Amino acid sequence: MVKLNNKTCVIRGEEVRYLGSFDDVARGRYVNGGFETVDGVRSMVGVVCKDCLPVLNCAVNAHFLDGSEKKKRAGILRDIRDPAFVTAAVQNHARRRVEMLLGDLENDTDWEQVVRELKTFLMHGLDINNFDEGPEHGLDPKRALACMLEEQRTMKFIKGLYGALEALDEGREDIEMVDAGCGPVLLFGILAALRSDKTMVTCLEINEGSARMAVKIIERLRLENRVKVVNCDATKYQHPRPIDLLVSETMYSGLTEEPQAQIFGNLAPQVVDDGIVMPESISVEAGLVSKALVSLHGSRFAMPQMAEGCVYFAHEPVEVARLTRSNLLKTVDGRISTQGVRPGEYLVGLRSKIHVHGNVTVSGGDSRISAPVLPPTYLRIADRIADTENNVRVRYTPGVAVESIVPTIE
Ligand SMILES: C[S@@+](CC[C@H](N)C(=O)[O-])C[C@H]1O[C@@H](n2cnc3c(N)ncnc32)[C@H](O)[C@@H]1O
Ligand SMILES: [Zn+2]
Repeated sequence: MVKLNNKTCVIRGEEVRYLGSFDDVARGRYVNGGFETVDGVRSMVGVVCKDCLPVLNCAVNAHFLDGSEKKKRAGILRDIRDPAFVTAAVQNHARRRVEMLLGDLENDTDWEQVVRELKTFLMHGLDINNFDEGPEHGLDPKRALACMLEEQRTMKFIKGLYGALEALDEGREDIEMVDAGCGPVLLFGILAALRSDKTMVTCLEINEGSARMAVKIIERLRLENRVKVVNCDATKYQHPRPIDLLVSETMYSGLTEEPQAQIFGNLAPQVVDDGIVMPESISVEAGLVSKALVSLHGSRFAMPQMAEGCVYFAHEPVEVARLTRSNLLKTVDGRISTQGVRPGEYLVGLRSKIHVHGNVTVSGGDSRISAPVLPPTYLRIADRIADTENNVRVRYTPGVAVESIVPTIE
């Protein structure tokens, strides 16, 4: 295999370091030996990187019948120097690729595999380590990427997003979408732009590294005319136009740790009356968990144990707060009755049920955004306190650390 350094792609100028055959590159094969990814080919018009290969293929097909080799080559060169041609070819390729990966969302496919392949496609050619420096705001890029890899959560949000776009499509010429807290691979923004030509997306991201990486991905997919990335704080951002679709997944279970409630507080009022916010609602549920179970499982439930987390609760958790576009929470303030609870030491467990859109929900062991978390203060439910008048009160500002929440008995 020929190894070349610092060759640049004739189409968009990317650096190409390892050349493979057309076939290798089209299939994403690896070069034997150094395990370096093949990232370009030598074509009749020069070196072409892997991301631009669909553009070359498109041009080659368009000039298939042009006659002499010289004529064909001239035609291909003309096309690949035309930014509109390049944009259309790259976008169409991305759309086909995503459609192929996502297939029929209603089918019970191997979602883990699908999400991993989506990630590989979107991140192609970019190393997340190069975006992981600088002052830290929000989540660092690697942790934000880990959210995407929670496949139940991600696939349900994609389902919800497609449903919302379909609902908005009728009777609208354009769909103005904002995704607040898009992360480094801005999955929802890209999928929305590829899914519907009407969608104009603005992605907000507070972490500088993630925002920089998001911009690179948009450039690579030639979606600059459809998706804009703004490095800002979504709890303060004012959108220049009314919003039709607000999407945000900046949450942790019980609406703790992350600023979902504050982001909705700022952005939901900017959504038009017949627009959609996604998630439609987030319920915070609280219940008592006995000390014996906590010492068994640790202060936060581990992933495999939290599936159907309610088995650890002394009784079915109750809803203590619900965030919707018309109920923007400043505090979570709820009471759980101690009636019928056996005397003993308890922690309050918090979990979320997320109504994404339509009948799509994320709950229980689906994800870290829904599974139970445990503020560490023990409550002593004394003998026969477990009667009528006593309540456990749990009160906190959304976004606070789980550890800082102190429930009380009233
Ligand atoms: C849980 S990650 C989710 C990323 C992506 N939306 C997804 O679902 O895969 C949340 C993202 O929101 C960002 N974020 C947190 N607070 C923010 C704020 N106030 N304004 C904008 N972005 C914020 C974080 O940096 C992080 O990238
Ligand atoms: Zn290229």
